[in-house]
Amino acid sequence: MASISFSLPIFLTIFFFLTLKIIPTIETNTDETRLHFYYQERTKSPNATTIKVVSSPIDPANPVFAFGNIFVFDDPITQDLDPASHLLGRVQGELAITSLDGYDGLYNFNIVLTDLDPWTGSTLTVIGRNPTQQIVKELPVVGGTGRFRLARGYIILTRLTSLDRPDGILTFEVNVTLWNN
Ligand SMILES: *[C@@H]1O[C@H](CO)[C@@H](O)[C@H](O)[C@H]1NC(C)=O
Ligand SMILES: *[C@@H]1O[C@H](CO)[C@@H](O)[C@H](O)[C@H]1NC(C)=O
Repeated sequence: MASISFSLPIFLTIFFFLTLKIIPTIETNTDETRLHFYYQERTKSPNATTIKVVSSPIDPANPVFAFGNIFVFDDPITQDLDPASHLLGRVQGELAITSLDGYDGLYNFNIVLTDLDPWTGSTLTVIGRNPTQQIVKELPVVGGTGRFRLARGYIILTRLTSLDRPDGILTFEVNVTLWNN
């Protein structure tokens, strides 16, 4: 009995690190786990992945940057920049414009991994300030489920396409750093 209870965790640990080596989106060491992926948001119909659900009562004609606008989104997560590259999951959440000048948001979303073992079926929850005019932003990871239960860390989010791009496709690069506590 004793030999089984010792060897199984060791086997699983070795298996875990072998698995990680073949996944290009992930790096890990004893202190941190890092994930790297992209998500693509379609702001225009057809097939928009984000919609405005509340228009600012004080500036209803302003499509995005007005105090009180609220959007929800369900964007595909891809392994590479190419929208046709391997689908790892979805980013599902909302953005509310919460500054009077219309440029800061409260951004909260779940990173739902549907095909990234060993985290398939696990989620990370991100909530924080979104300074919409900044290309690079930092947001806290406040928790997770499944293999990410009790997760703590942060993401660096980089917007790679222009907000006024004619096709309305916004591509974001996400670098997740999690503390292995
Ligand atoms: C929208 O989705 C439909 C159904 O999946 C697809 O046939 C069509 O090509 C898509 N249109 C664009 C512009 O992506
Ligand atoms: C995100 O991670 C990728 C891959 O490791 C790296 O090339 C890139 O510089 C990182 N970006 C930021 C903003 O840290």
